[in-house]
This record gives sequence, C-alpha cells and structure tokens, in this order.
Amino acid sequence: MASQDKTGGGFMKWLDTRFPASRLWRDHLASYYVPKNLNVWYVFGSLALLVLVNQLLTGIWLTMSYSPTAEGAFASIEYIMRDVEWGWLIRHMHTTGASALFIVVYLHMFRGLLYGSYKAPRELVWVFGMALYLVLMAEAFMGYLLPWGQMSYWGAQVITSLFSAIPGIGEGLAQWVRGDYLVSGVTLNRFFALHVVALPLVILGLVVLHIVALHEVGSNNPDGIDIRMRIDDAGKPLDGIPFHPYYTVKDLLGVAIFLCVFCGVIFYFPEGGGYFIEQPNFEPANPLQTPDHIAPVWYFTPFYAILRAINFSIFGLDARFLGVVFMGGAIAVLFVVPWLDRSPVRSMRYKGWLSKLMLGLFGVSFVALGVLGMLPSTPVRTHLAQLFTATYFAYFLFMPIYTRLEKTKPVPERVTG
Ligand code: HEM
Repeated sequence: MASQDKTGGGFMKWLDTRFPASRLWRDHLASYYVPKNLNVWYVFGSLALLVLVNQLLTGIWLTMSYSPTAEGAFASIEYIMRDVEWGWLIRHMHTTGASALFIVVYLHMFRGLLYGSYKAPRELVWVFGMALYLVLMAEAFMGYLLPWGQMSYWGAQVITSLFSAIPGIGEGLAQWVRGDYLVSGVTLNRFFALHVVALPLVILGLVVLHIVALHEVGSNNPDGIDIRMRIDDAGKPLDGIPFHPYYTVKDLLGVAIFLCVFCGVIFYFPEGGGYFIEQPNFEPANPLQTPDHIAPVWYFTPFYAILRAINFSIFGLDARFLGVVFMGGAIAVLFVVPWLDRSPVRSMRYKGWLSKLMLGLFGVSFVALGVLGMLPSTPVRTHLAQLFTATYFAYFLFMPIYTRLEKTKPVPERVTG
C-alpha cells in the first residue's frame, strides 16, 4: 500500500499512466522478495554491476582522447596519462576495473557452484551468465590490444594464431580475424570498434536477460531451499524479505568495502605488481622483437595453462589443435553444469563429502593453473599443468556420477539463517 500511496498524485501519477515506473520499482525492488538468509557471497552480483558501470563510464572518457591507429595509439595513452586532466585516474580506474570485474565475476560464479544456483529452475540464469562471461573475455582481450604496447601486440598475435591450429580452414580464419597476415593497424581498428561499440551492447543485453531470468524464478540461497513454497496469508514468502530496503542497504556496505580496496589499488598499486598492467606494455609494440616471455593477463592464465599443457597428440590430432580444443572445452563444459549435476539437493551444505572434495579440487586446480599460466613453462611445470588440467575436467566429467551416488543430508523445511 505504502508504495501505491507514493504513486497517488502529481508527477508520479502522470508518469505511471505513460510508463510503468512504480510497477517496475515494486516488482523488482520494493516488493521483490528475496530469501532472508543471503550471506556475503551474494554481494558479488551487485558488485559486478557496479564495476561494469565503471568500465562503461571510464571507457567513454578514455575514448575521447584515445587514437585507434597503429601510429597514434601508444602515444595517445601516454597523452592520457600525462596531459589529460585526471586522465591517469580514468585510465587506472579502467585497467584496474578490468581485473576487479574478473575477480568479482569469478567469486560470483564460485558462489553459483557452491550453492547449486545453476540447478532447476535457474538453468537459464546460469547460461546467460556464462554467455556474459564469454563475451566479457572477448571484450577484455580486445581492449588489451588498444594500448598497442609490446604485450598487447604479442598477446594478440599468439591468441589470434590459435585459430590457425584448426585443420583446413585455420590459416584463412586467423587472417580473417586479424584482417591482415599479422596483427596490424587493421586489427587495431576492428578490435576498437568491437571493444567500444559492439561487445558493450551485447554485454548490456545479456545483463538484462540475466536479471530478467533471475527475477522470474527468484534468488536461490545458501540452503538451496525454494522460499516460494511456503507463503503467508498475504501470499508473501515466509522466509523472504523485500529486496529494498534490506538488501540495498546490505549491498551498500559491500560497495563501501569494495570501493575502499579498489581506491587503495588505484592510488597506491595501480599496476598490481605487473599483474594488472604487464611490464612489457610500457614499451611500444614492435613487430620485429618478441618479448622474452609472453603471458596473457592473470584472468586468462588458467585457460592458457591448459592450452600449453597439451603438448601431445591423440588419435593423430595435432597437439596445437588439441590444446585449443581442451582450452575451449574448459569453458564450454561450464555451460552444461546444470545438466551434469544430478544431486537431489542444491546447496553444498547438504551434499556429500565427494561433492565437497571435488569442488575443493576444482578450486585448487583453477588457481594452480592460473599461477602456472603466468610462469614460463619448464618440464616440471608442464607436468603439473597436465595434472591440474585432469583434475579440472574430472570435477565436471564425473559430476553425473558422484552427485548421484553420494549420500546427501536432509534439507530443512525453512532457511537456517
Ligand atoms: C557482468 C557480469 C555479471 C553481472 C553484472 C551479474 C549480475 C548478477 C546479479 C545482480 C545477480 C543477483 C544478485 C546475486 O545473486 O548475486 C546475479 C545472480 C546470478 N548470477 Fe550473475 N552476473 C554476471 C555474471 C554471471 C556469470 C558469469 C555467471 C555464471 C556463469 C552468473 C550466474 C549467476 C547466478 C546462477 C545467479 C543466481 C544466484 C542465486 O540466486 O543464488 N552471473 N547476477
């Protein structure tokens, strides 16, 4: 009733008869019921939105002074850093923001695995999320070429060359992607167009689909209980509270803590020790000189380690091609998790020890592969990467078996707080 009072007269009435402003506010915030037991893992969705907005705004400002040509790109970044008012801050907000977005998104995804948020009826929320992740990776990869530093250039050269590993069409495909025989100004132009226009549009569209799908079925929670099953006389979930003001306030606390850390990094540690901006990227791109050690930015290194770990051929398939297949497979398999998990319960709280062990092993493998992917390869490191690639895939491939066989704990009727 209270929210209807607000819509009673004046401007809101005028607006509501032309645009469903109050209805949207009620349906998605003030009367959108969310489980009352959401914990800290649930702050990362809002934080992902916040960092995404940061990326869009700082990106627009960077574009005002950036020059998307092979001749001018590197110098225009120097100009932004030294001469444009507050340019250094905007650039660091964007580069550190990219790493922050991936940290937040990885934690957000891990929460989904922990509490089984991908299971019915939230399969589409997960699939839209995975599509978002895939496009975010493309967005970050293309953005990284734009400063036209040594790592930008050689990173793009290595990754676009992966297409040439595909038998038959590979070489032509790699050239089509680059628009040239090697990475060149033509590649820079098209990556710029995709990075600033096309992919942000796709990302925003996917965020809308992700949230609409979530609001259709409602949030999961650490107990994995469906709160819509138990409702009071007024039809409100007994274990639910309105998103606004309860979770807007809770999320604001998360935002405040996040901003303290984010500002600390931007002001005192903007290159993140070479992990957020790699050292070779302070030198202009030189197509005639390869850097000593080429590695992608940290958020891609788990997959890069898988690519390098496959140094053998199977069934006569070339090792390079197999590496690409394994790397692609490592991402593709995440899409189908909702159909691999056969457990009768959602949350890890009520699953058996095998599920807990496998999720732990997956987490360790992902981090270990991330570290290995940053380091130059040696025979020992390659063996380790092979081992962790095996445990990474084991988590997914054996999931239909261990989730069905293991003994689960009884799920309580009501959320446990
Ligand atoms: C830019 C990227 C993303 C944004 C802005 C975003 C935003 C959000 C928001 C605001 C929520 C509701 C709050 C919450 O539950 O934390 C949410 C829920 C969810 N997201 Fe994302 N998300 C993103 C990427 C992803 C990815 C990559 C995945 C996984 C593949 C994913 C899977 C989920 C799931 C399963 C839920 C429901 C969780 C539950 O109810 O327990 N999201 N997302």
